[in-house]
Amino acid sequence: MHISVLKNEVLQAFDFLKERENGVVLDCTLGFGGHSKAILQAYPQSRVIGVDRDLHAIKLASENLRDFAKRIEILQSPFGSAFEKLSVKQKGAICAILADIGVSSMHLDDKSRGFSFESSNLDMRMDTAQSLTAREILNTYNLLELERIFFEYGEIRESKKLARAIVEHREKYKETFESGEEFSAFVAQYVSRQKGVNPATQAFQALRIEVNDELGQLSALLDSIKNAYNEGFLRGAKLCIISFHSLEDRIIKNAFKVWSKECICPTEAMKCTCGNNNALGVASKKPILPSSEEILLNKRARSAKMRVFEFRQ
Ligand SMILES: C[S@@+](CC[C@H](N)C(=O)[O-])C[C@H]1O[C@@H](n2cnc3c(N)ncnc32)[C@H](O)[C@@H]1O
Repeated sequence: MHISVLKNEVLQAFDFLKERENGVVLDCTLGFGGHSKAILQAYPQSRVIGVDRDLHAIKLASENLRDFAKRIEILQSPFGSAFEKLSVKQKGAICAILADIGVSSMHLDDKSRGFSFESSNLDMRMDTAQSLTAREILNTYNLLELERIFFEYGEIRESKKLARAIVEHREKYKETFESGEEFSAFVAQYVSRQKGVNPATQAFQALRIEVNDELGQLSALLDSIKNAYNEGFLRGAKLCIISFHSLEDRIIKNAFKVWSKECICPTEAMKCTCGNNNALGVASKKPILPSSEEILLNKRARSAKMRVFEFRQ
């Protein structure tokens, strides 16, 4: 069962919906439908367009939201290309966007999906129709490619050592890595331990990010939102993005910073050429973090950060 993170804070950010007739919320990460359900319950005049790339999540959310079927439309898509699939009418109605990015508890709890340390395989695909899996990465990527993902996406100090050990293991034993259980034990031999954290945490994070192109998806989502605003949609809309690691938060923070700047030309420029001389709106100064009570109830919330952006009319 997935517990929605920062649920009250999301409801608070979207409280303008109580005065909106037919305000539409685009939930980019439907998951189990927890945030969407809370929004539909709290704001009875609102509607939701729910997006998820994972068919299993869509099935569970459809079940969880069946009492609200008349007020929700569901779309299976990566969120980076969701805007392309919406009609002009749908885009025109959106006044709030939520993205609660990353994996859900359903992914981690289901050992057949390959996300957890005890998994029976190394799948890690959110969309099981795509071809790249963590198994393929571990068994076919070359030394430099492995080093890159462990360094960039896992921020692992011993990324070179780990990548070398994987390649040597493949060459020496002519064996492939097949299970999460086996790979997490393997990683533990090469990376340093931190108290209370499984030593394979960052390596699994790196593989998951590569398999699902998570950072590329986030950038594509931000670009599509900016483009939609520039095309005349999302006027006065509010965007909330919840992220769970610093790589994602950095991308969101930088995008919001650029969007809220009047002009991003170098200070010595005589004339504005950046085309950004009209800020898109206002970014919240600081990220919103979960309370200690929430963290006590849901350990997964401890690394969550929510950033809010309010688009100009
Ligand atoms: C943290 S869960 C969302 C939970 C949801 N907010 C709730 O309260 O039940 C993240 C969900 O987003 C989906 N997801 C992650 N990246 C995605 C992407 N690029 N495009 C579409 N869905 C994505 C995952 O499949 C997962 O179901």
